[in-house]
Amino acid sequence: MAKEIRLNAFEMNCVAHQSPGLWRHPRDRSRDYKRLDYWIELAQILERGLFDGLFLADVLGVYDVFGGDERAALAHGAQTPVNDPLLLVPAMAAATRNLGFGVTVNLSYEPPYGFARRMSTLDHLTEGRIGWNIVTGYLDSAAKGAGKERQTDHDDRYAIAEEYMEVVYKLWEGSWDDSAVKADGGSGIFADPDRVRKVKHQGAHFRVDAVHLSEPSPQRTPVLYQAGSSPAGRTFAGRHAECVFISGPSKAVIAPRVAAIREGVAKAGRDPASILIFALLTVIVAPTDAEAQAKIVDYRRYADLEGALTLMSGWTGIDFSKLDPDQIVQHVENQAGRTALENITRADPHRSWTVRQVAEHVSIGGIGPVIVGSPSTVADELEAWVDETDVDGFNLAFAVRPETFEDVSNLLVPELQRRGRYKKAYRPGTLREKLFNGPARLQQPHFAARFR
Ligand SMILES: Cc1cc2nc3c(=O)[nH]c(=O)nc-3n(C[C@H](O)[C@H](O)[C@H](O)COP(=O)(O)O)c2cc1C
Repeated sequence: MAKEIRLNAFEMNCVAHQSPGLWRHPRDRSRDYKRLDYWIELAQILERGLFDGLFLADVLGVYDVFGGDERAALAHGAQTPVNDPLLLVPAMAAATRNLGFGVTVNLSYEPPYGFARRMSTLDHLTEGRIGWNIVTGYLDSAAKGAGKERQTDHDDRYAIAEEYMEVVYKLWEGSWDDSAVKADGGSGIFADPDRVRKVKHQGAHFRVDAVHLSEPSPQRTPVLYQAGSSPAGRTFAGRHAECVFISGPSKAVIAPRVAAIREGVAKAGRDPASILIFALLTVIVAPTDAEAQAKIVDYRRYADLEGALTLMSGWTGIDFSKLDPDQIVQHVENQAGRTALENITRADPHRSWTVRQVAEHVSIGGIGPVIVGSPSTVADELEAWVDETDVDGFNLAFAVRPETFEDVSNLLVPELQRRGRYKKAYRPGTLREKLFNGPARLQQPHFAARFR
């Protein structure tokens, strides 16, 4: 049977996420990112389209690689300024019943103990609809803001993340028994002290000697998302991720990456088909192909090429302001993210990219492809992506917000449903139950389950 196609929306609490410059479009509401009503309306649009989740990206530093300082990021609004993503969630959760929230939190700059409580709190308040996109960062500017000279080396970041995961699993899964909370008015006992254990962790990077501050939440551990695809990233995903976000410009780049990620999951003793992989992609859909083409031509008038290179410089650690626009981008090894540069250098031996081509491509929807057409044209292409690359669905970026998501909910989703490739209703239960049609809590052989 053909695989169900799943949709996530890719957003960020800032003005220019993956399509810099489009905030100037007359129908774009990006400047309202500071208003709760914007986020509530967005969540409702997505829930109408039965999106599995809203994925909120985050960075803890400015994009100061392009030109060597923060001027370009500020001038182009390139993911700068950026507000905290977690604080948006309760308002959106109160206005929806089923939409999941995959929120990015960088573990490099925050001890696990307090973070674990924030996620448990959100799991309670959303009644089990919270997910965590586990990231370790790629910006030196974030490290400097946190009092370090530069970020920890690439593979060491993943090694530290391993220990971090062990600590949060101990807090979420191991500290409180399910039966610990009595809330017994008769005896006056709220929680049975014999059923709550102190987490005692002494490791190379973290020490904890404390009970978890939250009582068990519906999912205990939030649904775990991950987005790094380098060899170290894939090993990490193999052990921990339930969902993986990937990005690449074409099916040729994405297909082997999907296979490698599933292989990493199998190596960790888990079923490679049990994880969900979402590819970054932007859909511009309109009732007819001609109308959709007219839309993208209109959108492109607002695209900001220098803003795109500002983002790309941050993702890759390469200062694109120093390169000639017609120069072919070459691979180098550095301590920023590895996959962003791999995408335009070594990932597809049949394609090389000039700086100008990178800027034009990235200016709408980041490094993912832009698929333009009528509902039927776009659905054909999405089906081809799923069938040829083995992804489970798409992490949809936007050009104009929230118009891009409204068009998807109103036009594309009904077409996918007609083809039997998209759900007609949400499953009941927590985000984990909805995504995997299984229990609310992580089970063996997932590494987290051994800490319960
Ligand atoms: C679709 C997608 C979304 C991402 N979102 C974030 C994010 O919000 N914050 C962040 O710090 N890193 C984000 N990343 C970067 C990854 O977490 C990771 O740092 C990066 O891919 C480099 O890791 P790698 O060298 O293992 O690929 C994202 C990556 C992808 C592909």
